[in-house]
Amino acid sequence: MPTSTELSNARHHHTDASAPASHNPPIALAQNAEPGPRPDESRNPDDDESAGTAGVTPTPARTAVDPAPTVRCPTIADGAHMWRIASDSGELDVNTAYAYALLARDFSDTCRVATVAEQAVGFVTGYRRPDAPTTLFVWQIAVDPAFRGRNIGGLLLDALVRDLVDVVAVETTVTQTNDSSRRLFGKFAQRHDARICESPLFAAGDFPDAHEPEPLLTISGLAH
Ligand SMILES: CC(C)(COP(=O)(O)OP(=O)(O)OC[C@H]1O[C@@H](n2cnc3c(N)ncnc32)[C@H](O)[C@@H]1OP(=O)(O)O)[C@@H](O)C(=O)NCCC(=O)NCCS
Repeated sequence: MPTSTELSNARHHHTDASAPASHNPPIALAQNAEPGPRPDESRNPDDDESAGTAGVTPTPARTAVDPAPTVRCPTIADGAHMWRIASDSGELDVNTAYAYALLARDFSDTCRVATVAEQAVGFVTGYRRPDAPTTLFVWQIAVDPAFRGRNIGGLLLDALVRDLVDVVAVETTVTQTNDSSRRLFGKFAQRHDARICESPLFAAGDFPDAHEPEPLLTISGLAH
């Protein structure tokens, strides 16, 4: 039986050597802190001039999504959107389009889609663990790259847990290198006054292809 490790906020934060120091402050500070530069946000030429440094450009702060995103249960028609967002994610093991359509039909109560102006921009898939139905396993979550950094992932998780009133714990697996996802779940745990623990689950050798280990994050004691 693997030993769980309770994650402090500092430990939960994975340091990306390629990112500037201000990129990801500790989670405890992040929610109120001015966001730092983001690797995939476009640069602002106006800032170039004010900085007075050719070629070195502060990136703009994150802005609210307008119109505001909404979250709903997926329909079969969303299966194709979920597949497209997963395919574009650059991170996920992409399931077949059939699998997303099936999840949308048979697990719509534990899956959600985020839309902006009626266009799907993110999704989360999950299921209640058969042996522990008050534990929600989050299988996949992804946000369209153009909409990242605006808490749409957090909105999806919050909406899902809000609707599943009897769920007391959330599980997911996150690779050591997926900093954005670790930040997302760390902030989710904080918002819900929950504990977050990490323990080994799937080792690289459990996969037939080249694959990082997938440790388990368990978020327990969720306050609704
Ligand atoms: C993980 C993911 C769903 C988070 O969604 P999101 O709506 O961007 O979530 P948040 O706005 O809360 O941002 C979470 C973290 O992403 C990072 N981030 C922020 N803006 C970003 C941007 N524009 N581009 C990339 N990453 C960004 C930051 O580390 C941020 O943490 P911080 O706000 O504490 O600094 C999204 O990054 C994604 O789709 N990633 C690819 C798929 C994936 O890895 N899924 C999880 C598998 S376990």
